[in-house]
Amino acid sequence: MKKIILTVVITLIVLAGGFTIYMYTGWYDVSQTTPHNGLTKWMIRTTKHHSIDSRLKEIKVPKLDDTTMYIAGFREYNEMCVMCHGAPGIRPDAMVKGLYPKPPEFAKKDDMPDPDEGFWIIKNGIKMTSMPAYGPSHKDAIIWDMTAFLVNKFKKMTPEEYKNWIKKYGEEDDED
Ligand code: HEC
Repeated sequence: MKKIILTVVITLIVLAGGFTIYMYTGWYDVSQTTPHNGLTKWMIRTTKHHSIDSRLKEIKVPKLDDTTMYIAGFREYNEMCVMCHGAPGIRPDAMVKGLYPKPPEFAKKDDMPDPDEGFWIIKNGIKMTSMPAYGPSHKDAIIWDMTAFLVNKFKKMTPEEYKNWIKKYGEEDDED
């Protein structure tokens, strides 16, 4: 038994030492342009999935099929999300070419997140990706508006309808 414990402790020390040396040598490439290897990708995907899943239990999804919510959510989405995620008939900004991981382009994606998951992600963001947390700057009610727009309205919009909504409901942007 003593031998086993000693072997485990020595192995851990060697691993920790090796890892520390790896960190200090600079061998790891932090560049956005070097993709993760398969193992790292799997670790990130699995950790993310379970992390988010375990945090959804206390979320109560309100009614999300309301046009007023869609319009309020659209305004926020059009102002804060299109540059990364695009919209029907609108490509994301060129800057997205340099992001890793890439933001999903929702207009081209078949499946959208479930409402509780969408809400959680918009509110909390995702570490080590460029997905920001909007919770610190936005109330839950407006985050639900964004969620309603994204999960129930977005996929049904044609490029023409989205353009019309910009004309009808888009905010005037003073900076442009
Ligand atoms: C600077 C870029 C950026 C901005 C701005 C941004 N996102 Fe994201 N978003 C990302 C990235 C990158 C991911 C993917 C993260 C990953 O791979 O884990 C993501 C993921 C998501 C997801 C999860 C998608 C899925 O299928 O799992 C949702 C929902 C989302 N974003 C909604 C929004 C909304 C709504 C806004 C605006 C309020 C927004 N995002 C603004 C970069 C951005």
